[in-house]
Amino acid sequence: MSQFTAKAPARANIIGEHTDYATNQGHVLPTPLPFHTTVSVREMAGTAGRLTILSENYGNQPHERDISDEPRHHWTDYLVGCARVMSRNAKLPALELKIKSDVPIGSGISSSAALCVATVRALNGLTAAHLDDERIALMAHEAEHDYVGVPCGKMDQFVASLGRPGQALLLNTKTMTYRHYPLSMNTAVMLVNCGKKHDLANGSGYKQRVAECTEARRLLGVTTLCELGHKDLGRLSTLPDLIRRRARHVITENLRVLEFVTALEEGDMERQADLIAASHASQRDDFEVSIPEIDALVESSKRYGIRAARLVGGGFGGSIIALVPRDQAVAWWSFIAKENPDSQLISTYALKNSENEYAA
Ligand code: GLA
Repeated sequence: MSQFTAKAPARANIIGEHTDYATNQGHVLPTPLPFHTTVSVREMAGTAGRLTILSENYGNQPHERDISDEPRHHWTDYLVGCARVMSRNAKLPALELKIKSDVPIGSGISSSAALCVATVRALNGLTAAHLDDERIALMAHEAEHDYVGVPCGKMDQFVASLGRPGQALLLNTKTMTYRHYPLSMNTAVMLVNCGKKHDLANGSGYKQRVAECTEARRLLGVTTLCELGHKDLGRLSTLPDLIRRRARHVITENLRVLEFVTALEEGDMERQADLIAASHASQRDDFEVSIPEIDALVESSKRYGIRAARLVGGGFGGSIIALVPRDQAVAWWSFIAKENPDSQLISTYALKNSENEYAA
């Protein structure tokens, strides 16, 4: 019987947080990380649409599911969602899906998109559906958004499917057009988990932020928040304080992504650091998705002398990302670890000799 194995990476978002909701449709700039989820699918004897799901990370305990199941608020929902979306293209036989992953869960580096993209890729291979990488990203998003019920944007699935190691993916979430940008060879992308898990599927904070952006859009009478720019910021003064701050984060964050790309092209590290620091302040004060443990890591980084540090991902826990000169990465981490004993270094992702190689 046929079988197929595929993998997909986790991601770090360099800048552009919470700009990718359907209500916002702004820009994001994520990069893939050297952590992967691998999914092996194997055709089995049995009723079509029956799924036997096992994960090495959960002791290879088999879970029996079916593509017709309703969501059960269990991690296997992600697999059921992907299989259900794929079943529109090809009739699925009974399947065994085996998962293996070194992606840290709850760190804000999108373990869920790595799982969904790897699953859709594996099913694509098994059924010879010939879906391209964009279609795979959209289907993985549909599984997480429509089936699992996380009101997420499309950033994570796109970078897991289309990202290139050592490069940032500038994605316009309105037009879904994208471009790859090489990251500086002299910079280490450092990720530090604060010790408090983030969980989008069960966390109500993310859903609430999506609702607040929807309200801002309604009150402003626009189709998407990111169609507004610098010159429109004055319009926000008519909004209630909380909604005004949420909208201000989204609009300014979108502008920061575009400025960051220019700074990246010009090799302007000072400007990059300013923009990353401003992104963190905006997430903390306007969007209110940070927590004290994350702010403490960002402040430690500043005390060390690195301003380019900010909360990464959906927030309410998880990790910071910091852009640190490679030759200072070890000293920087020793300093952070000493001041924040509960924190963990989850990646020392640094570029090697060529743009397409990276070292963990
Ligand atoms: C999560 C979501 C993304 C995005 C980020 C915040 O990772 O899955 O779509 O909204 O949060 O930038």
